[in-house]
Amino acid sequence: MSEYNALDAEFIRANLDTSRIGREILVYKSTSSTNDIAAEYAKAGDKNDGLAVFAEHQTAGRGRRGNQWLSGKGKSVLCSVVFFEPKIEADMITITAAVAVVETIDKNAKIKWPNDILLGGKKTAGILVEAFTKNKKKYFIIGIGINCHQSKKDFDGELASIATSIDIESGTVCDRNRIAKRLLVNLEHFLDIAVKDPDEIVERWRAASMLFGKRITVEHNGAQFTGNCIGVEPAEGLIIQLERGGVRMFHAVSTTIVKNGTEM
Ligand code: BTN
Repeated sequence: MSEYNALDAEFIRANLDTSRIGREILVYKSTSSTNDIAAEYAKAGDKNDGLAVFAEHQTAGRGRRGNQWLSGKGKSVLCSVVFFEPKIEADMITITAAVAVVETIDKNAKIKWPNDILLGGKKTAGILVEAFTKNKKKYFIIGIGINCHQSKKDFDGELASIATSIDIESGTVCDRNRIAKRLLVNLEHFLDIAVKDPDEIVERWRAASMLFGKRITVEHNGAQFTGNCIGVEPAEGLIIQLERGGVRMFHAVSTTIVKNGTEM
């Protein structure tokens, strides 16, 4: 048994102020990956639009670029949402989910493009959006992992300098059920804005971005590029005013941010 309150579908559902995201809520004690469960349900069609799958533990949690996503039992909010939407692309959904996570965990949290959310300069949450098409219908699985109850002991070795949790940063014990609820409300709110007014999401991204306005180096197809980050284009990626001259956009799938020659 965990020393923390368990995730509770009834609590998350009660008075949930959404009409779409979280219409159905499932909580698993353990599963391979909430993204896999959500993807299975999505195969049945858009009747499962808005389904939110949570788990206390994942045996095969995954992150971007095939990385593993590890988290101790009952310590995180691990969530995947099914989202049928023809009008926006996966990169825009990632940006929007990042804005929603910032709003959920701490308005001062920073977004490290494309999918990391940082508190105190360290990673606290990650986003993995997977895109599918079935019978010409485009849908997404929006996977979000938020570190909540991890202590410093949970992040040893190399992780100590790059990862943190809400409890570590706040010095208190957060309430995962409330975080889960806020996450669904914020996802609905910002996804709705993303469809109607994408510029507003980009504006919010800029305000929360740790890269915007900074001199950065990215690695793309084996080459490094340095310059000033001047924005993000939802469909084209990060926009950099290059020191060697010119402005270039870098797609998230093929680009990493580097510092002192290593991935940051
Ligand atoms: C990353 O930072 O690379 C993205 C991490 C995304 C992790 C979440 S946890 C819930 C959902 N299920 C998964 O297997 N991955 C996402």
